[in-house]
Formats: sequence, C-alpha cells, structure tokens
Amino acid sequence: MSSLEKKFLIKSKDFIRAGEASIAVQSLLKSMQFDPDLIRRIAICGYEGEMNAVMHGGDATMTVEIDSEKLTLIITDTGEGIDSIEQAMQPGFSTASDEVREMGFGAGMGLPNMKKNSDDIQIESETGKGTRVQMIFHLHKEDQVP
Ligand SMILES: Nc1ncnc2c1ncn2[C@@H]1O[C@H](COP(=O)(O)OP(=O)(O)OP(=O)(O)O)[C@@H](O)[C@H]1O
Ligand SMILES: [Mg+2]
Repeated sequence: MSSLEKKFLIKSKDFIRAGEASIAVQSLLKSMQFDPDLIRRIAICGYEGEMNAVMHGGDATMTVEIDSEKLTLIITDTGEGIDSIEQAMQPGFSTASDEVREMGFGAGMGLPNMKKNSDDIQIESETGKGTRVQMIFHLHKEDQVP
C-alpha cells in the first residue's frame, strides 16, 4: 500500500470551528473503511489534541500519515509551549483559564486520554516556540497495545 498524507489547519482561540480538523480526519478514515474502534480512538486523540492547540497552544496543523503498518497523527502548534511535559501528563493537571473552564474544558484529562487511546505518544515542546504531539496507531491488531 502506498502512503498517504493529509494536513488540516487549526486556528488558535477559534472556538466556533474548533473540532473541525478531527472531524475531517474521522470522515477520511470512515471513507477509507478503517475499523470503527480504531477510528474512535484516533478521533478521541485528534479532538483532545486539537482542543489543546486551540485553548493552550497557537495556530496549528494536524497531519495524518498512513502507511501499510500504522497511522501517525501529528499536531504541531506555534504557541507558548509546555513548561513541564511530565506535569502536563498528570491526570487532573490543568492551566485552563476560567473562560475555558466555563465552556466545560480544563479537567486535565486530555493528555492522559491521548496516552491511553494511542499506541505511542511523543511530545516535544519548547517554551515560547510551540508544541509537537505525535501519536502512533498500529493498523494490525496484533501490534496494538491492549
Ligand atoms: N498545545 C499545548 N500548548 C501549551 N500547553 C499545553 C498544550 N497542551 C497541553 N498543555 C498544557 O498541559 C495541560 C494539561 O493538558 P490536558 O489536555 O491534559 O488538560 P486540559 O486541556 O487542561 O483539560 P481537558 O483536556 O481535560 O479539557 C494544559 O492545562 C496546559 O497547561
Ligand atoms: Mg486538553
């Protein structure tokens, strides 16, 4: 199978259009007849990553790369970055503003959910420059983390 790459744009603080990139990825995977459970896991990770870019990060791109073995989802933003990735990964840790909390976000569960629903997650971040979150999903059940 040849590889495929698609890129979607995410606008910082745009709460009206927030979620559209992950919905576009979900539609793409449905049209390609991916396994529904795999689509569900990718949609959760895409949505949480997209919302983090919108709320905490900056303008971003969501890239999906598919080859015969795996799907790679990469969200890169040009925001303020994460001071401590270890702390950010802790369930319940959040720096969400009151405004964002009023919209129902800020439980500090996005990153833990992304870790749980992907087979691998790598986060790179530089204060003042931005954040890159890469998640891998194995396409063959025997390679998936149970
Ligand atoms: N792209 C990002 N840029 C800067 N900081 C981030 C980014 N993503 C996450 N963070 C930091 O990590 C914290 C934890 O993120 P996480 O997604 O787990 O929780 P949350 O977004 O605060 O709440 P929830 O996802 O439950 O609505 C955030 O509060 C923020 O401080
Ligand atoms: Mg979040």
